[in-house]
Amino acid sequence: MIDCPEPGLWLLTTPSSAYAVRLGPDGAPRSAHWGPRLTLDQARVLPAGAEELPVEGGDRFGVAGLQVRYGDGVRGVEWRHLGDDVDGGHLTIRMADRHYPLEIDLHYLIRPDSDAVDRWTTLRNTGDGPITVLRCDSAAWAVPRREDYRLTHVTGEWGAEFQVRRTAPAVAETVLTSRRGHSGHHANPWVMIDAGDATEDRGEVWSAALAWSGSWRITVERDHDGRVGWSGGFGHEGVTWRLGPGESLETPAFTGVYSAEGFGGVSHRWHEHIRRHVLPAPGRVRPVVYNSWEATEFDVSQAQQMELAELAAGIGVELFVMDDGWFGGRTGAFAGRTGETAGLGDWWPNPDRFPHGLTPLIDHVKRLGMRFGLWVEPESVNPDSELYRTRPEWVLGQPNRRATEVRDQLLLDFSRDDVAEWAYDRLDELVTHNDIAFLKWDMNRPITEAGDEVWVPYIRNVYAVVDRLRATHPHLTIEGCASGGGRADLGMLAGTDQIWTSDNTDATQRIAIQHGYGQVYPACTMGAWVTDSPNALTGRPTPLAFRFHVAMSGALGIGGDLGRWSPADLEQAKHLIEQYKLIRPVVHEGRMDRLADWAVQYTLDPHVVVLSWRPTTLVRVTAPVRLRGLDPDGVYRDEDTGETHHGGLLMSHGLPRPWPFDATSELKRLTRVG
Ligand code: DGJ
Repeated sequence: MIDCPEPGLWLLTTPSSAYAVRLGPDGAPRSAHWGPRLTLDQARVLPAGAEELPVEGGDRFGVAGLQVRYGDGVRGVEWRHLGDDVDGGHLTIRMADRHYPLEIDLHYLIRPDSDAVDRWTTLRNTGDGPITVLRCDSAAWAVPRREDYRLTHVTGEWGAEFQVRRTAPAVAETVLTSRRGHSGHHANPWVMIDAGDATEDRGEVWSAALAWSGSWRITVERDHDGRVGWSGGFGHEGVTWRLGPGESLETPAFTGVYSAEGFGGVSHRWHEHIRRHVLPAPGRVRPVVYNSWEATEFDVSQAQQMELAELAAGIGVELFVMDDGWFGGRTGAFAGRTGETAGLGDWWPNPDRFPHGLTPLIDHVKRLGMRFGLWVEPESVNPDSELYRTRPEWVLGQPNRRATEVRDQLLLDFSRDDVAEWAYDRLDELVTHNDIAFLKWDMNRPITEAGDEVWVPYIRNVYAVVDRLRATHPHLTIEGCASGGGRADLGMLAGTDQIWTSDNTDATQRIAIQHGYGQVYPACTMGAWVTDSPNALTGRPTPLAFRFHVAMSGALGIGGDLGRWSPADLEQAKHLIEQYKLIRPVVHEGRMDRLADWAVQYTLDPHVVVLSWRPTTLVRVTAPVRLRGLDPDGVYRDEDTGETHHGGLLMSHGLPRPWPFDATSELKRLTRVG
């Protein structure tokens, strides 16, 4: 609900929170409240706080989220209020510069069933000369005054994404950023602040996540007076926009979520919001996928894929994905994609490997009762490819600069509409002429040597191609990937169904990676494979059940070399996949509670699922697993043993953990029966 209790004051009320904006005495739109719900009378007495979009000029010396330069060299904004529009849950506060022809719309969007507030900015040049935009953040978020603060974010690298960090923010500016043209392995575009006292289920948490998959920046500022807030948005460092007469610039949304119920409470709200309002196909069942990458890498053949498909079908896999290595060759790069160095860009089945195209394999997969999926990397090109030889001008680069190769590949200039059109046509052709139900869209290198005009249109064209593909092929499930979890964000999730979380499939290390991913993003989007033991990346051996129990807390896939699994392993895998299919609706649609670093609960009343893991006996966790959010008077039946438990006791005493060894794990399925 959006109220305007008095001129210059707007109150946005969500199911469990409220956000208020007030025009300050200087005419600037300022934050007045972000926290619990308020009455209109309470809202009326709110003072104006920090600027909603801090600008340059006057006695402002902090982070400027909006930086502009007019034709005469003058910078900054002096705010003038033009009016406001309310359209359902969408509030636009229309502002302008007092003197220069620049209009600035501040957008706010809320929905009746979500605590998220989307905020973004539109700039419009209403004059007849150009305006230079040096920075245009989506929004700034001010946290109410507290005694102390704590900053939560994630850091990482390839194979170790989403590592949660909780630190006291420095009395300084802390910059969370990616300058890589994708959202990054080393950071992720979200931030949380609490007063240092929040736990998983108690305390206030303020958070925001950016819907952008390119370079981004969030600057958290803590000043000497103890004020904390952040400003954030898209745009590559140092890159400017020229806003011509009549032109406008719209930023992506920077969505904020407040919860008074701790980090768990904030995660619940994010998960629900993303499932309902961000994902393109809410409620779509994520198939149990088999992916051939770890089994074959580039050494792909039709016969071997068919054998893997038979084994995958035998254990209950629903969709078979052939990863990298299936394309190019003959007329293009000599051997096609037989390794990292050739073939990217040549999106036809390698005639040496698939002499009759993909149809025989796809028919085989379908006869086995599965659907078929394919790996693609549409933004990239190897210099050794037919595409590079025919279209060298499509490659991203700058005059007089060496083109940086990463993994032996270059990027196509996706900011060009003809390149995006080509990519759409190739993918559309693949999906139209082959029965393809799933695409894994990978991107294996950062953007380099790009001109100012590339960074934003590049990402917008990636979104446009993905959206167009979905519109033409509504049945298509798309998995986003960038060397693992390098491009996981609300922008990508608006066009894809799931994200490949990390190339690290070691179940022990996955626990921390998944813990970080799930702070904001829901389990149904978290691609998680069971692979071989010892693990290909870390060499660590782990039991099959442990690997499954870790992967079952996301969108389960199988990524091992099934040909090397023993009959007993395959039999156990079949049983575990059957169990997963039973719990999938609860894991994907239910409320997720992190009971500890080593246990997670999903609740979709009357069903409750608990997955717990003990990676190593050095972690001396023998305390019982105490459940959350149950009916204290309810009775819960264990679906495997038939035992019944009292809800109140499950929450206060918990379930015992009698596990003596390393890499032990457990799946509990409970149903409320009274
Ligand atoms: C990186 C991805 O993360 C892997 O899963 C795999 O698809 C490779 N690329 C293929 O080149």
